Amino acid sequence: MKTIKDIDVKNKTVLLRADYNVPLKDGKVENDLRIRAGLPTINYLLEHGAKRIYLISHLGRPEGKENLNFSLSPIVNTLKKLLPNQEIGFYPLPVDSEPIKNIPEKVKIVLLENLRFNPGEEENSQDFIGNIVKATKSDLYVQDGFAVVHRAHASTDAIKEFLPVYAGLLVEKEIINLGKVIKDPEKPVLVIIGGAKVEDKEPLIEKFLKIADNIVVGGKISADGYKPKNEKIYVAEDFDENSKGEKLDIGPLSTGKITELIANSKTIIWNGLLGYAEDPTYATSSTIVAEKLGEKSDATTVICGGDTTGFVENLMKEHKNLNYSLISTGGGASLEFLIGKKLPGLEAIKD
Ligand code: 3PG
Repeated sequence: MKTIKDIDVKNKTVLLRADYNVPLKDGKVENDLRIRAGLPTINYLLEHGAKRIYLISHLGRPEGKENLNFSLSPIVNTLKKLLPNQEIGFYPLPVDSEPIKNIPEKVKIVLLENLRFNPGEEENSQDFIGNIVKATKSDLYVQDGFAVVHRAHASTDAIKEFLPVYAGLLVEKEIINLGKVIKDPEKPVLVIIGGAKVEDKEPLIEKFLKIADNIVVGGKISADGYKPKNEKIYVAEDFDENSKGEKLDIGPLSTGKITELIANSKTIIWNGLLGYAEDPTYATSSTIVAEKLGEKSDATTVICGGDTTGFVENLMKEHKNLNYSLISTGGGASLEFLIGKKLPGLEAIKD
């Protein structure tokens, strides 16, 4: 795979796709793992003399419309803290191919507004991404948004029609690390799937039978009544409910079964919180599982996905004894990579 280390970026304008789809609370970034994880690429480009870096990303699912709840503006403050010697510009998405004007010379890093404010991003529109390339006068494209490479969107796929695409250092690192996990995993392998993106994850569950000895399903998929078609798949069977009867966490019986499986496994991949853990009342099962995995020293433990990694990182601040083999920035992307699916954002790099 071609990476930024294979090219001379001196005096080049770089369009850099990051994944800044991070949790926000009260207009502030709640967990900056994905932003921090992208810093090595930004620093590499700066150190090697790139003229300017235009950062592009999505945040949430604003459905092709401008919606300030999904603005990338809170990311600017985090970038300023992480890159204290840089001035960071923040500009709207270009509406046409007209070059973006009035960016002061000294501003080397420019973040553009949420790509998904324009329907062209998810429609994989060549016009949309072509305009961004022209408006930014970019010379090359760097794909570093590992968490989004499973989507065939304009910034992962159509972009290859306009610029040579290189992998950033995060994409390279994720592929190497996740690749090691699936190459020759120590058995038994346990995959724990939860979270709220039911339509994305449900179709993947059975595909994990290729690599997993056991699969556990919690979170919204289990609360919605998912029926497994294989005896290796255990679906949570009891739940904590609120007064309206909504199943917001898996219960003690299911949590106990999962911890038993964890104790007997040698490779464990976890993506997706097991309950509505934003509310501490419903974070019990996720906390227990995070602790069991973090205390387990005789297994390879892999945590993936924005919410799950954010949750685990917060817990690690309180409990210094917790330790995981790999914390991956990808959620769906990591899962699809692990089951060997072709990912459009990575295919575009090979092209
Ligand atoms: C993620 O958080 O998994 C990625 O940023 C992709 O977001 P999406 O599921 O909304 O496409």
